[in-house]
Amino acid sequence: MTAIIIDGKARATALRESVAAEVAGFVAAHGRAPGLTVVLVGDDPASAVYVRNKGRETLAAGMVSGEHRLPASVSEAEVLALVAALNADEAIDGILVQLPLPRHIDADRVLAAINPAKDVDGFHPVNAGRLATGLDALVPCTPTGCLLLIEEALGNLSGKEALVIGRSNIVGKPMAALLTARSATVTIAHSRTVDLAGHVARAEILVAAVGVPHLVKGEWIRPGACVIDVGMNRVATADGKSRLTGDVDYDGALARAGWITPVPGGVGPMTIACLLANTLKAARARLG
Ligand code: GUN
Repeated sequence: MTAIIIDGKARATALRESVAAEVAGFVAAHGRAPGLTVVLVGDDPASAVYVRNKGRETLAAGMVSGEHRLPASVSEAEVLALVAALNADEAIDGILVQLPLPRHIDADRVLAAINPAKDVDGFHPVNAGRLATGLDALVPCTPTGCLLLIEEALGNLSGKEALVIGRSNIVGKPMAALLTARSATVTIAHSRTVDLAGHVARAEILVAAVGVPHLVKGEWIRPGACVIDVGMNRVATADGKSRLTGDVDYDGALARAGWITPVPGGVGPMTIACLLANTLKAARARLG
């Protein structure tokens, strides 16, 4: 068997186009566009790339894009004061504080200071709790994108065996909650899991989100499984350059899986598309 390669780039383009069409309707109805503002602290190069792409895609979808860049030396109090000002700004529907933050700033405190109604990352404890209890919520973007790809491949997920590798608040835990809400049977594996290979062998749905290059070996994979690789690991190549690679041994998995996401070009493009969808959702909810 050779897996069907899931084209996340194409799926993300389709989602961005449908959001843009709905934004046009929002503008016609409300006389203003949804607004997303990103806060970037410090000069982490990968974060700067994400933030630039977010700004570009926000504008392309017809929304208002705001950006606040703060030096790495900024105090936690200053970041909290900025978040409070953004909470109070009626023209801003979505606030995203780019992670990671410098170590002297308590990221949990900053995320908890964001108005949950503007929390388009879905990281606020209120949104995490609403997702966990089955209430309508702003849901983290990367697992939302993964779920869209999985449902497109498999259709109804009820009763499917799912394995999520990784228990982060950004991907693993919300991913498990989303799959549980679709009535999949969900296992969460992590760094202390015994016999990861045995768990992988049972999974009809496998989501790998740990950040360890090629942790999941191709021969572990259940034949026909839907493999979603969230890993974005930069590894050195023989020619002295570097390339991005996932958490799954892609070449090995290709021969066994039914569907697989490439890295790059799989999950990655879905994250910003889902962020735009969340911003539109937040704007609609705020304006009733
Ligand atoms: N850093 C890496 N991924 C993300 C994300 O989805 N949201 C935020 N805010 N920061 C990130």
